[in-house]
Amino acid sequence: MDTSSSIVTGAGLADAVRKSRLPARLDVVQSATGLVLALFMWGHMFFVSSILLGKDAMWTITKMFEGYFIFGRAYPGIVSVVVAVIVLLLVVHAALAVRKFPINYRQLRTYRGHMKLMRHEDTTLWYWQFVTGFALFFLAAPHLFQMLTQPGLIGPYESSDRVWSYHWWPLYLLLLFAVEVHGGVGLYRLAVKWGWFAGSNPDATRRRLKALKWALTVFFLALGLATLAAYIRIGIEHADRVGERYVPASVQPGAVK
Ligand code: HEM
Repeated sequence: MDTSSSIVTGAGLADAVRKSRLPARLDVVQSATGLVLALFMWGHMFFVSSILLGKDAMWTITKMFEGYFIFGRAYPGIVSVVVAVIVLLLVVHAALAVRKFPINYRQLRTYRGHMKLMRHEDTTLWYWQFVTGFALFFLAAPHLFQMLTQPGLIGPYESSDRVWSYHWWPLYLLLLFAVEVHGGVGLYRLAVKWGWFAGSNPDATRRRLKALKWALTVFFLALGLATLAAYIRIGIEHADRVGERYVPASVQPGAVK
């Protein structure tokens, strides 16, 4: 055996004849978890924004998720199960995303250098997806832990008290911007990566996808801000009765177990 082939064997490269499919499979799992989380977020924003239709509307949605209209009494534990599934998806998604992060400061600087030099919008979008993804590690955790451990404290007064009297609104504001930018860019990149909605002219397809991405981001940001403002308003009004649970006028006090 000559010296060069023994170096190859020593480095383990002799076994590397067959290329591993693992990175491609991990990419599919990362995309799939991202897609499910983005779809969940759309649903979440609509359900949470039911407060814009009034306190009774939000109460009804909350009780629906607690199984009240099926079992005749509320089981907040059902909400905890949903939260646990979301946490699992988030952990898998984040663990796989870390593979793509710059591993040291020099790599990050090189990336930013390329970004400034090229002024290529998709490269800049990736950077914002990285920054907001990193922020979400920290911002999503308190909210999810709260929802997991106290699912029974969701409702028109309960949520508004949390947002205002228990000072959660700054976290929600940051979370809203981080998740909408991250999800919007993520969905756009998924569509480009897997060729969804691809037409005969790739440039035109990208332009259309980008317009759709911005429209969705602006729509969900506006909806989220209006929703947050509604919880803040109710929270301020309810500040002197903080802790009181909401019961619709149509329901006898004490009837909801
Ligand atoms: C990826 C995970 C999640 C993110 C990024 C997220 C983000 C947010 C944001 C930004 C708000 C503020 C509402 C607004 O600005 O319009 C909010 C509120 C809310 N979220 Fe989530 N959420 C997540 C998961 C969940 C889950 C799993 C549940 C429960 C099943 C949940 C239930 C709620 C509720 C009830 C509110 C209303 C305020 C409150 O009760 O504290 N969220 N969420």
